[in-house]
Amino acid sequence: MDKIVIRGGRKLKGEIVVSGSKNSALPILFATLLTDDPATITNVPSLTDIDTAVAFLNFIGKKTVKKGNTVKAYSSYKYKHIAPYGLVSKMRASILIMGPLLARLKRVEVSLPGGCAIGARPVDIHLDAFKKLGAKISVKGGCVKTSTKNGLKGAAVSFRFPSVGATENILLAAVLAKGKTIITNAAREPEIEDLANVLNKMGAKVTGAGAKNIEIEGVDKLHGFTHEVIPDRIEAATYIIAAAITKGGVILKKVMPQHLKSVNDKLKESGLCIKETKDTISAKWVKNLKPQNVKTEAYPGFPTDVQAQWMALMCLLNGESRIEENVFENRFLHVAELQRFGADITISGKAVNIKGVKKFSGAPVMVSDLRAGAALVLAGLVAKGKTVVSRIYHLNRGYDMLEKKLKKLGGDLLQEEF
Ligand code: UD1
Repeated sequence: MDKIVIRGGRKLKGEIVVSGSKNSALPILFATLLTDDPATITNVPSLTDIDTAVAFLNFIGKKTVKKGNTVKAYSSYKYKHIAPYGLVSKMRASILIMGPLLARLKRVEVSLPGGCAIGARPVDIHLDAFKKLGAKISVKGGCVKTSTKNGLKGAAVSFRFPSVGATENILLAAVLAKGKTIITNAAREPEIEDLANVLNKMGAKVTGAGAKNIEIEGVDKLHGFTHEVIPDRIEAATYIIAAAITKGGVILKKVMPQHLKSVNDKLKESGLCIKETKDTISAKWVKNLKPQNVKTEAYPGFPTDVQAQWMALMCLLNGESRIEENVFENRFLHVAELQRFGADITISGKAVNIKGVKKFSGAPVMVSDLRAGAALVLAGLVAKGKTVVSRIYHLNRGYDMLEKKLKKLGGDLLQEEF
C-alpha cells in the first residue's frame, strides 16, 4: 500500500494552479444521465472518485471517457436501473444516481452507501424528498427500491438540514418532473450553483440556486452541454493553510476567492496576509499567527472539509483555541493522529479544545478519511524529522497531484510503494 514519506521543516513557497472541484464535477457527471445528447465537461480533476463515477456511468449504460481533464459523455444506450453495492460502496456520492434515473426510468434500485469514518451519513433527507415528488420507496436487504408509476410530480420540499447531496439529488430529479418543485432550506454551496448552471444549460428551468429556496419548473426533455467545472475551494484552502503552517507563501491561480470567504476571513483575523484578485489568492506568512475559534456550518459558514487542516494549524499557534464540528457527528479521527506529532487536543462532545505547542515531531500516522489525510500531510510538512503517512488512497480520492504540487512549493516528500 502506498505511503508518503515527508521530511518536515521547509517553508512552502511558490505558485500553483488550483484543480477543478471534485464535489462539483461528481454531480455534473451524473447530470449527463438526464440527456441522450453528448456532453463535454472540462477542468475535471484527476482523482479516484472521478474514475469511480466514470466507471459507474459506463456500467449504467452512459458511455463516458476521461482524457486529461476533460470528460466526454456520448449518446446514451439503454440504462440499467440497478446500482449494486460494489459500486455504491466505493463512493457515497453514487447515491446521486437516484435522481436522474428515477426521472428517466421511473424506477431505480440503489444499494445504501452505508456509514463511513466520519459518521453514519444517512440518506433520509433524500428519500423523504423523493416521496414528496411522488416516489414509492422501500428498503430491503440494504437496497433502496424507488419507483414512480406515472412519473415524478413537482412538490414543495423542505429539508430539516441543508444537505448538499440531497439538494443535488432532488435538483437532478425535479428538472424532469411535471410541474414546479420548491426546495426550502436547500444547501447553498457553490457546487449547487455550478450544478444548477449546468442544468440550465441543458434546458432546465432552475432559479435561486445558491440561496435558501430553489425553484425548479420541470421540462419534458434536456439536451447536451459543455461546461467548465469551478475551482476546488477545499483544495485551495488546504494550500493556503500549508503556507500558513510552514510560515511560507503561496499564490493560487484559477481560484474563485469569493468561495473561500469564511476561511480567508479567519486566516486574516489570525494575522495571515491574504490578497485577492478576481481569480487569484496570494497568502503570505508575515508574523506569528493568533489562534482563532471556529464552528463548522453549512455554506457560507466555515466548511467542515477544512476543519482537520485548520486544526493542524491551530495546534502550533501560541495560545488556546476551540473548534466546533456541527456538520458531521464523528469528524475527529485525525485528533489521535495529530497527538502523535505532539499536539495538545482534548475532545469535548462535538468540539475540541486545543492548546498550542511549540513544535511537532515527525511520526508514523494513518489516514482515516480524505480531509484528515490532508491535515496529517500538513502536520508532516512542518514537523521536525521524518513522517510516514499511510493509507494515502484516501488522499488520492480528493487531491489532484498532491505530491507534485507540494513538491513544486518546495515540500520534501515522496510517495513510496511498500
Ligand atoms: C457533501 C460533500 C462533502 C462535505 C459535505 C458537507 C460531496 C461529494 N461531498 O457531502 O465533502 O463534507 O457535503 O459540506 O459533495 N444527512 C442526513 N440525512 C441525509 C443527508 C445528510 O442526516 O439524508 C446529514 C449527514 O449525515 C451529515 C450532514 O447531514 O451529518 C451533511 O451531509 P450532506 O450535506 O448531505 O453531505 P454530503 O452531500 O454527503
